Amino acid sequence: MPKYHIAYLPGDGIGNDVMDAAKIVLDAIDLDAEYIHGDIGWEFWKTEGNPLPDRTVELLKETNCCLFGAITSKSNEDAEKELIPELRNKGIVYSGAIVTLRQELNLHTNMRYCKAYPGNPLNYRDDIDLVVFRENTEGLYAGVEFRPPSKEVFNALMTHKNMKKFEKISLDDIAVSCRIFTRNACQNIIRQAFEYAKKHNRGSVTLVEKPNVIRETSGMMVQEARRMAMEYPNIELWETNVDAMCMWLVKNPQDYDVLVSSNMFGDIISDLAAQLVGGLGFVASQNIGDNYAVFEPIHGSAPKYAGQYKVNPIAMILSVKLMLDWLGEKQYAKNLDQAVASVIKERKITTYDLGGTNTSLEMAETIVKKYEEL
Ligand code: IPM
Ligand code: MG
Repeated sequence: MPKYHIAYLPGDGIGNDVMDAAKIVLDAIDLDAEYIHGDIGWEFWKTEGNPLPDRTVELLKETNCCLFGAITSKSNEDAEKELIPELRNKGIVYSGAIVTLRQELNLHTNMRYCKAYPGNPLNYRDDIDLVVFRENTEGLYAGVEFRPPSKEVFNALMTHKNMKKFEKISLDDIAVSCRIFTRNACQNIIRQAFEYAKKHNRGSVTLVEKPNVIRETSGMMVQEARRMAMEYPNIELWETNVDAMCMWLVKNPQDYDVLVSSNMFGDIISDLAAQLVGGLGFVASQNIGDNYAVFEPIHGSAPKYAGQYKVNPIAMILSVKLMLDWLGEKQYAKNLDQAVASVIKERKITTYDLGGTNTSLEMAETIVKKYEEL
């Protein structure tokens, strides 16, 4: 019986391409694991009205962790149009599979590693090493939305004094998306950020929010961060508004260590931070719960490149590295990281984002060769 059972979810578009590349690496390092394919993505939305079929959630529950490629998600209007005719007009509403998966499995902590590998010509600078902690189950992603709001919802909202300006507007012309934070989730994500900083000797944790405007939800994050910072006297807590953070990240990214934010802001700043270290093709992430984790590149499914094996698989291969680390296979993880670093540095094999013409699979094979030389 293999030591690990790993759910293998390529998803949509280039998710397949990069997972094929990851598989080359996994086979070469000879991890004692069984990979179990799971259905997820747009295909299952169109044919089953559910991009995350129940059987996939069940499968995940029987595995140690999950490797995930990418999925396509579209607006409600477009999603409805693409359903097979039998499923249309039945009130089935699309909700993004990866978002649902994070919530169903309570993968509360999303970590994204934006580290510049020296020699990458796409680096903004070579000394950037940021980790973004993103709250992963609530906030604007909680899915509590109304368009139009019902009368009951609208009346409840009307009890707030600032609703006065919306009083005369027809319900059909109003859309509401709620930003819900719980103290528990705020505490958790901030705790994880501080603990990581402590363990890895990072000097600062930067809370990225917008408490000067979004006073209650961002305000709760600030309150909890300040409280917790007292338990970590050797780590500075910096507080930065999300708009200013975008500016600072472009100006002085090397000054930052650990960033912590809520779901939506964490999503946005991690794309910005990723571009500073070569783009979405280089940044891996882990969605961590109490006993389970899903590893994925932060890029999307890039449908226009699907099946062409032209995208950079490094973000996916670094997601494999994160998985190895999480499983406790530290030496495998370390060697894989070193192999990736040296392929980036050499610049002999390059995918299109790096100005080259090599395929995703050639890149994976080159990484394997390096790994085997170590
Ligand atoms: C990400 C992605 C997802 C998100 C999308 C695909 C729903 O952008 O993992 O950052 O918004 O979380
Ligand atoms: Mg994103």
